Amino acid sequence: MNTVFNTESFRDDFTFRNSPVAVRRFPFPFHEDKYMYAVNMEPHVPAGPEGHAYRAPIDVDEHYVSEMKDREMVLREDPLRAQALPHMMAAQWDTLELLMEKQAEGFPELFSLTKNGDQWHWINRPLGIDQKFIFGDTSTLPYEPMDYIMRQTQGDICIVDQRDSQLWMDAGVVTTQADWSLDFDLGMNFMEWHGPVPLAHQIGVFERALKFLLNLQQGKPVRRLNWTMTINSRLDTSPENYPKWGPDRASVAPENVGNKVHLRCELQSLWRLPRSNAILFVIRCYLIKMEELVAIPKWARRFHRVLRDLPPELIDYKGLTRYRPTVVEWLSKYDDGKATSPGIFPD
Ligand code: HEM
Repeated sequence: MNTVFNTESFRDDFTFRNSPVAVRRFPFPFHEDKYMYAVNMEPHVPAGPEGHAYRAPIDVDEHYVSEMKDREMVLREDPLRAQALPHMMAAQWDTLELLMEKQAEGFPELFSLTKNGDQWHWINRPLGIDQKFIFGDTSTLPYEPMDYIMRQTQGDICIVDQRDSQLWMDAGVVTTQADWSLDFDLGMNFMEWHGPVPLAHQIGVFERALKFLLNLQQGKPVRRLNWTMTINSRLDTSPENYPKWGPDRASVAPENVGNKVHLRCELQSLWRLPRSNAILFVIRCYLIKMEELVAIPKWARRFHRVLRDLPPELIDYKGLTRYRPTVVEWLSKYDDGKATSPGIFPD
């Protein structure tokens, strides 16, 4: 990977941006010109060209160091963004192990994990961390295991416990979410926390997804993509902070679409954990500005069509109502030949 980490912000002056390499590796979520919910899960195996977000089991990119700073700020302001019910301690250790192992596997130049019985040694070079600890003994780490490793992992997580043929959201670290709250959902089951999602319940998406997940096998992770849009490059669009970001939606105008409006894609991976039998749900958020997205002409055309024809229920649920017409109009220039894409990449 490109081991130069950006210095950038996801709040206040919003200096976030993607390098051409990061644009190229962005997990563009649409495989056709229209979008509707589906049980879109596939094996989480390496895919795409060299350097793509799908190459490593847990992706790390140029935003790593800045995202970890942003997480630290959110957790300092609101400790309830990281919560675990008492019976989830084994699952916390499972999670620490998986995230250390998979980051070291994907990026051995950045991370290493050495195990000698229960004496473990973790090195995180980008953050300058060198930690020896005893696996299973929380007193040998500066934080509880889930909290410790999530201060060093991009993306949010939920750890869901499996009981009575249901999945229960019993732990998580959630600081980069698209308008939902861990504090509100903690202790809910799969059907309950998906309650607000429109249309998907009627077409049986959640029933089938739950059935599939209850049989998820260790060592056979799966992934899916989800998407929404965000105004300004804010990672923390939580209900808790709505007054900080909700009003931004009214600030979109034709002249600022390119820089202000972002497609927000979540690369979600699901892993069966070995000791606890819980499932780790990783929600890795990628942002791309409209001016970056149109650098790839086929993405510009496709996103224009998806957004133009999106079902009203999804427009409303994803919170796009206010600014969607302005963005559709801006993108249409790239679909009807009136504007040429900056074209830094071939079609
Ligand atoms: C156990 C793992 C999962 C967790 C913890 C989880 C959690 C969530 C949460 C918290 C939301 C936001 C709901 C709200 O508006 O308050 C959501 C939305 C959603 N989830 Fe899941 N989910 C999981 C797995 C899945 C799977 C396997 C599917 C596959 C179909 C799925 C499909 C969806 C869809 C379609 C939405 C609406 C997203 C949007 O339009 O932005 N989820 N999920």
